[in-house]
Amino acid sequence: MSTSLVPFNGITFTVHTFGCQMNKHDSERVYGTLESLGAQAVDTVEESDIIVFMTCCVREAADTRLYGQVMSLKNVPLRPDSPLDKRIVAVGGCIGQRDGNKLIEKMPHLDVVFGTNNLSSLPQLIKETMRDKQHHVATVEESSTEATELPSDREHSWAAWLPITVGCNNFCTYCIVPYVRGREKSRPLEQIAAEASAYAKAGVKEITLLGQNVNSYGRDLYGEPKFAEVLDAVAESGVDRIRFATSHPKDLTDEVIERFATIPNLMPALHLPAQSGSDRILKAMNRRYTVEHYLELIDKLRTACPGIALSTDIIVGFPGETEEDFQQTYDLVKHVGYAQVFTFIYSKREGTPAAKIDDPTPHEVIQERFDRLVDVVQQGAFDYNQPFANKTVSVLVEGASKRDARLLVGRSPQNQTVHAPIPEGMGISDLAGRFVNVKVEQARTWYLRGSLVAGPFDHDQTNPEL
Ligand code: SAH
Ligand code: SF4
Ligand code: F3S
Repeated sequence: MSTSLVPFNGITFTVHTFGCQMNKHDSERVYGTLESLGAQAVDTVEESDIIVFMTCCVREAADTRLYGQVMSLKNVPLRPDSPLDKRIVAVGGCIGQRDGNKLIEKMPHLDVVFGTNNLSSLPQLIKETMRDKQHHVATVEESSTEATELPSDREHSWAAWLPITVGCNNFCTYCIVPYVRGREKSRPLEQIAAEASAYAKAGVKEITLLGQNVNSYGRDLYGEPKFAEVLDAVAESGVDRIRFATSHPKDLTDEVIERFATIPNLMPALHLPAQSGSDRILKAMNRRYTVEHYLELIDKLRTACPGIALSTDIIVGFPGETEEDFQQTYDLVKHVGYAQVFTFIYSKREGTPAAKIDDPTPHEVIQERFDRLVDVVQQGAFDYNQPFANKTVSVLVEGASKRDARLLVGRSPQNQTVHAPIPEGMGISDLAGRFVNVKVEQARTWYLRGSLVAGPFDHDQTNPEL
């Protein structure tokens, strides 16, 4: 009876995740760790004995949301048959790392706070809280790849995130991430290769390599970046689809670009955050590339992989951005013709260098620029999708549409969302996690819609038409 499992037997939990893929992946580790100790994941906060928030502070909106959510839990009673006498609320992720003890001062009914480098301490922190009813906080500064070894319970059995680095060394002047995720650390190449091949053997169809800047992978371990070699090793696993995020333009090498031409299972899609189209602003952001260099990369990518789906992140309203700077960003977005652009209004993050720069630009001016940019972003996405009309695309099915259960939803190689009716006589369980060929009938701004013409298949069908 004295096994370490006992405290978690019969205990239920939910995990609420905000922020980037790194956090989503960390949440899978929280699920895996708590389940391996005997706890059971449930769907609602009402049913949960333990509630874990995995938080993000990259922009201000996420910060304020957490506070409201944690406060509103005060009014949700603990389920009557809970083995606990009080619900345990834990906050992890980037706000946990940044604020530590300060969070408990702000929200006294919080029980546990754990940082981005303390995932493995979570069970211990919860156990201590159960025992002594006190708050427990753990945030260490030093980043570590250790948590990548924790058990993981993935959201989908056919898709896996594979972290190759943690942390970031780039210190873009607007960005909080290096302060809450620590310095960049790479996992050994052999470990990544072994994990990829174990996933492929277990039937995983898509692996997404993760890092704040995958292109600098290996610098800390090998003295030089070796991301192209990571791609080769993961390609060898034979997994159907490989993707990666995120790429910093200053470190994207010709070797990596060439892999888009030579590795068939590397998907023709790349997220390459530009942030701005003004060299002056890029310099103030400490991005360490010029627009000219960025455009050279785009040309090389399109030569290596014609039709590649390019996506990017843009910040509007960085302190001191003028109409002329913004116009250059607008022109860049229009010129490149992105399949997708994630647009953000600059959000001041205390502790970052940009937070010290005063900016007299009124919010309305920034909002108006943002709205203008969104128009050109939508036009670009619409234009990118048009050549797919009447073509057949290979789709990895993710599930049924939330809006209409008779539709399947999946992704094309270019990462477009694809909808198609589930054929008569088939259920979504016959299709999810498998590949189908869809003949596209409508190419819209944010999705393609068509009909299933072949499949389901266990492997990606290469498509000669595109
Ligand atoms: N490491 C990745 C992701 C960083 S966060 C990368 O470098 O691309 C994701 C995006 O959030 C960034 O690309 C940036 O566009 C945006 N972002 C980061 N800090 C921000 C801030 N203070 N205000 C507005 N947007 C921000
Ligand atoms: Fe932030 Fe820049 Fe690092 Fe990305 S590369 S996480 S934007 S500091
Ligand atoms: Fe947010 Fe942390 Fe990711 S601040 S964007 S969850 S690294």
